[in-house]
Amino acid sequence: MKKLPAVKIGDLTIDPPIIQGGMGVRVSRAGLAAAVANEGGIGVIAGVGLGKFENRPGSEFESINNDALREEIRRARTLSKGVIAVNIMVVLSNYEPLIKTAVEEGIDIIISGAGLPLELPKLVENTNIKLIPIVSSARALKIICSKWKRNFKRLPDAVIVEGAMAGGHIGYDYDDLVKDKAPLLDDLIVDVVSLANTFTPAIPVFAAGGVFYGSDIDHFLKLGAAGVQMGTRFVCTDECDVHDNFKQAYINAGKDDIVIIKSPVGLPGRVIKNKFIENVQNGTTSPTACNFRCLKTCNPKEAPYCIAKSLTSAAEGDLDNGFVFAGSNAYRCNEIIPVKELMRKLQEEYAATE
Ligand SMILES: Cc1cc2nc3c(=O)[nH]c(=O)nc-3n(C[C@H](O)[C@H](O)[C@H](O)COP(=O)(O)O)c2cc1C
Repeated sequence: MKKLPAVKIGDLTIDPPIIQGGMGVRVSRAGLAAAVANEGGIGVIAGVGLGKFENRPGSEFESINNDALREEIRRARTLSKGVIAVNIMVVLSNYEPLIKTAVEEGIDIIISGAGLPLELPKLVENTNIKLIPIVSSARALKIICSKWKRNFKRLPDAVIVEGAMAGGHIGYDYDDLVKDKAPLLDDLIVDVVSLANTFTPAIPVFAAGGVFYGSDIDHFLKLGAAGVQMGTRFVCTDECDVHDNFKQAYINAGKDDIVIIKSPVGLPGRVIKNKFIENVQNGTTSPTACNFRCLKTCNPKEAPYCIAKSLTSAAEGDLDNGFVFAGSNAYRCNEIIPVKELMRKLQEEYAATE
């Protein structure tokens, strides 16, 4: 049987070569990450907003989220001996404290996108932690490599290339996305792989955004990727830590329900349409008071809605006051299954390719 190949990231062996995408807020925590790590992939805890900060004074925002991240990493370690990573977005106002917490807890890998993580190597000095940036172009990888080499004498241990079909925030122009003019992931992978192969050793490239079936994995491996990162398909698993209403929104979604909105993060985001999203699109939501300033880029006086409140509500199952991030293939989800079975299906689908 044709078997998914393993990939090495430094001294770590990832087999199968699948990274479960970090999903905030509170979607991928210790439960999902450990389940994926137990199957040989990389399990990723999304570091954003893990603590229940929304009901607390703003002065506690940083410590509550640090404590919660620490707890999730420790919980994942009790559930799995596999490879555990954290996803921490550059755009977060508490980026450095979260990275520091992950370093103190001896995390295996830090994955960082939504901005260029140009200073990240400095924060992990004298550790064996692997660093994986998420980029949307070969140019972004080039900038990261030249800065890291010059300032820190190191390169990324792998890179994730995220294309326009991904869920959550997407690194392209809003107008390009809605007009289907964003670059194709196929082209991006070819470009990034050819850049990644100029380094010794070559930097392993992972394709993300719209990878759903084992046949998609086959496709990107044939284009030169070493593996894939998948988010959407992991939401509809038993172990995914989010509220069941969130998973059911995926199961119930049709293709046309999956739309692009503008986000206070400063990037467009892909979501499943509901009443809240209709209000955002009609311009009938308005700025709310903010006492925690979670994002470097948000101006709460002008933001038409609070992304933290929306995503924390959704994570807790309240879809009247929030919305669900989802990849463009979310409408293909039609069952909630254990991670073990999902990994088996992906292997089977892969084996069925030529
Ligand atoms: C619900 C949801 C939340 C996400 N949150 C984050 C996040 O916090 N940080 C991040 O870098 N990417 C985030 N993403 C992107 C995923 O990690 C992944 O790269 C992307 O969804 C891949 O595309 P796919 O969903 O089509 O597999 C999120 C995606 C989803 C669906």
